[in-house]
Amino acid sequence: MTSAYTRDVSFPATFSPQQAPIHISAVAALHGVRRDFKGRFTYCDYGCGQGLTLALVAACYPEAQFFGVDMNSAHIETARAFASSCSIENVEFIEADFLSMNSGDLPLLDFAAVSGVYSWLPAEKRRRLACIIAGGLKDGGACALQYRCMPGSASRLTTDGLATFLAGRASGASSARIVSALSAVSHIIDAPDLAFNKVNPTAREHLKEQLAADPDYLAHDILNADYAGVWFHQVAEEFRRAGLGFVAQLRPQMNACPDLLEPQLARRMSSVAENRNDPIVWQELVNLAVNAGSRWDLFVKPHGDSSDETEPDVLQGLFVRGLAGRDHKGPRQALSGRVAVDLTDPAFDFALDMVADGEVAFGLMANRMSVGAGAEAARRILRSLFALGLIGFSAAALAEPRGAANPVFSAQQKRILFESLRYEKPQPFPSRSLGNCVPLALRDRVILTSMACENVEAAWALIEEKGAGVRSDGGREIMSLERFRAYLSEAQIGFRAERLPDLQRLGLFC
Ligand SMILES: C[S@@+](CC[C@H](N)C(=O)[O-])C[C@H]1O[C@@H](n2cnc3c(N)ncnc32)[C@H](O)[C@@H]1O
Repeated sequence: MTSAYTRDVSFPATFSPQQAPIHISAVAALHGVRRDFKGRFTYCDYGCGQGLTLALVAACYPEAQFFGVDMNSAHIETARAFASSCSIENVEFIEADFLSMNSGDLPLLDFAAVSGVYSWLPAEKRRRLACIIAGGLKDGGACALQYRCMPGSASRLTTDGLATFLAGRASGASSARIVSALSAVSHIIDAPDLAFNKVNPTAREHLKEQLAADPDYLAHDILNADYAGVWFHQVAEEFRRAGLGFVAQLRPQMNACPDLLEPQLARRMSSVAENRNDPIVWQELVNLAVNAGSRWDLFVKPHGDSSDETEPDVLQGLFVRGLAGRDHKGPRQALSGRVAVDLTDPAFDFALDMVADGEVAFGLMANRMSVGAGAEAARRILRSLFALGLIGFSAAALAEPRGAANPVFSAQQKRILFESLRYEKPQPFPSRSLGNCVPLALRDRVILTSMACENVEAAWALIEEKGAGVRSDGGREIMSLERFRAYLSEAQIGFRAERLPDLQRLGLFC
């Protein structure tokens, strides 16, 4: 099957926490979809790219089985090399066109993920992919889908389309062609008093941002003749026909609309959507209100016995953790009056008091909150707290930190830390207790690597080779192995006392 996908350069490795099973399960639970959250499950990432998300999520769930499918052989090679160098054994990368996959190629799945793919396919292939995903899921299985949507994509489609056309007439590597095409478009629209700019006032700013981005990313993101901004209602219909129902967005803030919207806007939206009776209409209004240009959606394949789905949440293995501590009123008071819901309502205190000192099993918490108010009201409060970042979820009760004791690192953790030194930006690090990854700054990774591995020379060689740039606490770049050693022995002292206990509590190291 032919494809308009770029193949001559690699899509940069990215990590998407929305794809983690715990995140998908938590959002499902907050919308009344009952799915037990257990350690053994099957998961496939369709169009997994270089497999960073898949490999690191797999490291959080050693008992589960993960599959990544991609047609780009360079992506699959890098993904296999990374997983094997980090001893992540429960993930298999398959070089294939997912549109040609047959039932039986993979075991039936509990989870599917598709990111950066759907809105880059023509309609006919989108529908085929939706059917392949639905056919591959077990009853009750969930799919996390990321795509470019309308109306937020509208403003960029004209310049992206023109740049794609111009790049198609040039020769050379995709990344060079798209950068030169974007520069050409930018050059024209920088002209003063251009009629185009009057009706497309954001185009110039957007092109500037694109030209500052990684050219390899642009080669995949823009240089694709099939790429379009699709409407949520089209996607929901394509998935409905394939047998999957829309549940919610995987971005928590979007699910707390209209409660966390400005009151007048919330009233207007509720009146147009007739009190949110039609979830598809409601989602399009949310897209309009926030000018959404991309979405992360959760679709679920119904159970044969649909009565199961409306049962109260009796989730096993999903814990709610408080992120606001004992004094949790502050952040809510600051927002009160500016949003449609009364965040000072005692129901919010009741929920946050329950998790002020530690995690609580999700089922227990939801049941306690339901007494009196009902299950839907309880979930609505939890959705707002999740959207505000005042609660999070974990796959296990978190451990007490062991203070300044020497942490124990597994061989896998040592390898992941070491590999991550290639990158200057914060890098995801897997936590089995959280069931997701925690972003670690370069400073954390450098110090942890020096504690985990004796071979400081090798770490320094990797940092030097990649030019990642470690800075002392005074902000000066460290330029030699001697200074690197001196920096580490000093920095470790403060790190053990201040940072390590937090990381241990998050389950990063025992
Ligand atoms: C933009 S990248 C996204 C990678 C990754 N999912 C992420 O979000 O970082 C899209 C990936 O989908 C792959 N892809 C596109 N169409 C495909 C197909 N028909 N079969 C297999 N892989 C495909 C591409 O090779 C590419 O690696």
